[in-house]
Amino acid sequence: MRNVAVIGSGTMGNGIAHVFAQHGFAVSLIDISEDALNRALATIAKNLDRQVAKGTLTEQIKNDTLLHIGTFTDLKMGVQQADLVVEAATENVDVKLKLFRDIDQYAPAHAILASNTSSISITKIAAATSRPQQVIGMHFMNPVPVMKLVEVIKGYATSEEVTEKIMATSRKLHKIPVEVNDFPGFISNRILMPMINEAIYSLYEGVAGVEEIDTVMKLGMAHPMGPLQLADFIGLDVCLSILHVLHDGFGQPKYFPCPLLSNMVMAGHKGVKSGIGFYDYSHDSKELVVSDRFKKSQLV
Ligand code: CAA
Repeated sequence: MRNVAVIGSGTMGNGIAHVFAQHGFAVSLIDISEDALNRALATIAKNLDRQVAKGTLTEQIKNDTLLHIGTFTDLKMGVQQADLVVEAATENVDVKLKLFRDIDQYAPAHAILASNTSSISITKIAAATSRPQQVIGMHFMNPVPVMKLVEVIKGYATSEEVTEKIMATSRKLHKIPVEVNDFPGFISNRILMPMINEAIYSLYEGVAGVEEIDTVMKLGMAHPMGPLQLADFIGLDVCLSILHVLHDGFGQPKYFPCPLLSNMVMAGHKGVKSGIGFYDYSHDSKELVVSDRFKKSQLV
């Protein structure tokens, strides 16, 4: 395993490219727009600078890491040498199925095709290719250079040999891989999203305010971020779409997304990426500021 193609240069894609390149893999980073690729390279350089400033990385490794990354706007050119393709494109089932059909056509026959999907069925994605035994989930956590976990998801047809290779490759990235089977939400989001949804219901029902809910979970349960801040960080649209996957997949009311979450997403309040969610990110302050909407009253 030497050549890795990463598809999608957004938050997850650039983080995944960063860690592979940092650990000596030759990375082809692929996106449809040159601008997005340039932004991704700037983000990777900035995050490497952080690591250098902390003394966890040398200037030499930083420079080598950047040299290990090539960028492509053409999918075929980007994947044709790959031993491993890691897809981190938009979390949309039709986009992913089309991408995997194309990757299957262009990537070498031996290549393993992984998806960083947070909720779409690996078995379904695999069935769109001619090599379902070589398709697997490689679910990294945000921020990728910091978080130790890779959730490795075995589709119904994924072979043991491919699973072992991906477990070993994850360890080469100095990550801790955990193997799970392919059911809605896998493990991470099957457990995380109901907690976030319950935090939103608690706000919606007026049990407590935004800061109070997050403080209980931070100080009481030692979570680094409260569930509402974490939801903003992940993206409220992403949380909503994962809850729909859980609700559709299991058919149980406990996964039904809180109407407040649906309203916020419809209003474009998607969290950090849109500048507003449960907190307001439209100012320069490093302090967390609760959105005006939730300052006025606990009852929404
Ligand atoms: N690249 C490199 N380093 C980074 C970084 C990045 N993108 N972002 C943060 N860091 C580093 C910082 O330099 C800092 O390093 P040191 O510990 O060596 O000082 C460290 O990470 C902590 O960063 P900060 O001091 O800026 O901030 P913090 O202490 O508040 O930590 C955080 C930030 C790591 C994000 C922490 O708040 C946290 O762990 N939050 C929870 C994150 C989480 O749960 N992620 C999973 C989300 S779910 C998901 O991704 C999958 C899904 O399917 C939805």
